[in-house]
Amino acid sequence: MTDKTHSERITFHDAIETMEVDFSSMTFADAVQVNAIYDEVDRQLAATGKRWFFLVLYTDCEIAPEAWDRFAERGKSTNINHGRGSVRVDAKAQTREAIRQSAGRESFRSNIYDTRDQALLALGELRKRQRDLANGADEVFLRVENVSLRFGGVKAITEISFEIKRGEISAIIGPNGAGKSSMLNVINGVYHPQEGTITFLGNVRQQMRPYEAAKQGIARTFQNIALFKGMSVLDNIMTGRNLKMKANMLQQAFWFGPAQREELEHRAKVEEIIDFLEIQHIRKTPVGRLPYGLQKRVDLARALAMEPELLLLDEPMAGMNVEEKQDMCRFILDVNDQFGTTVLLIEHDMGVVMDLSNFVVVLDYGKKIAEGTPDEVRADPNVISAYLGASH
Ligand SMILES: Nc1ncnc2c1ncn2[C@@H]1O[C@H](COP(=O)(O)OP(=O)(O)OP(=O)(O)O)[C@@H](O)[C@H]1O
Ligand SMILES: [Mg+2]
Repeated sequence: MTDKTHSERITFHDAIETMEVDFSSMTFADAVQVNAIYDEVDRQLAATGKRWFFLVLYTDCEIAPEAWDRFAERGKSTNINHGRGSVRVDAKAQTREAIRQSAGRESFRSNIYDTRDQALLALGELRKRQRDLANGADEVFLRVENVSLRFGGVKAITEISFEIKRGEISAIIGPNGAGKSSMLNVINGVYHPQEGTITFLGNVRQQMRPYEAAKQGIARTFQNIALFKGMSVLDNIMTGRNLKMKANMLQQAFWFGPAQREELEHRAKVEEIIDFLEIQHIRKTPVGRLPYGLQKRVDLARALAMEPELLLLDEPMAGMNVEEKQDMCRFILDVNDQFGTTVLLIEHDMGVVMDLSNFVVVLDYGKKIAEGTPDEVRADPNVISAYLGASH
């Protein structure tokens, strides 16, 4: 350990509402050493009487396996009691992995960056988003009102209404055939309801074509992956940029002037997403050759390439093993956190829904039978009986 005192490692940057903690070159061999610095951190934070963003430096910081549980536990409690969000800088591979794992377990965001500058940039985004959220508190982000959808005699959806708030992760749950996928298809314009309206970002509409929904910022992944199996991961993700491409076909064909610049910008954005979802190693691989879990991740990447305001995910974790599910959970949380994307997902695994979502809508036989926080719906007698009565 270097000879900096604990209190010298803590700096408050008032202008950016951030407390910086410098763990650089520290070694945490056991729980006692972890407690020592966290006691000081908590003491100083409590004295301010405010909540702060955290910028944490990990350059050459060693955390022994024996100390990890305490480290994660103290970090979590500091976050809960005093935090508004964290960014981390320059963790070693091992520390990075440990942070990710405990983040996955606790459903919080890992947010690790290579340099302090990158972390500060991300912190700026985080602060801006929280400000926007506070300002736009009464704007309608997505409102579904009295929507009914029939296929001939089949009532897929009957008089459903609910509202989704910007910045949240919401879930639609319900037994097979409840109308969940149909609901997403109505929101992104694939199905046209016979009754009811959808309000998205202030625009009210009854019907909308899928490309119009996409233009307004609604992206979607499908229950059955809809990727080009013979094309590489990179090219599949590029298809998500199509709507954003402005240069005309002739320019693109000759790849000059604006088209060339544009193409490079799109590539850069796509590379950012590839890094973010940790799929660098498969960027050239044809999608059809990938295991299922990775294909789902590429599908998410393609949707993210649209830079959506609202991301609709139809059973993003279906068919995955436990580890793949945990990865996907973490990516969804990170997307929501880092890009500020509002997420509406369908998921059968109740554990996952409870961990991820702020708000849950429950459908059964095309009707809404409950809505609320995960705890509220879990305790709802209608929901319990729908699930007990269901075939799975
Ligand atoms: N294109 C369609 N044509 C006819 N009927 C349809 C169509 N799409 C959905 N349905 C019917 O609407 C009802 C709701 O289906 P939907 O796929 O929305 O359910 P779900 O909740 O997504 O089910 P699952 O959990 O099995 O994916 C079902 O009875 C289904 O057969
Ligand atoms: Mg479905």
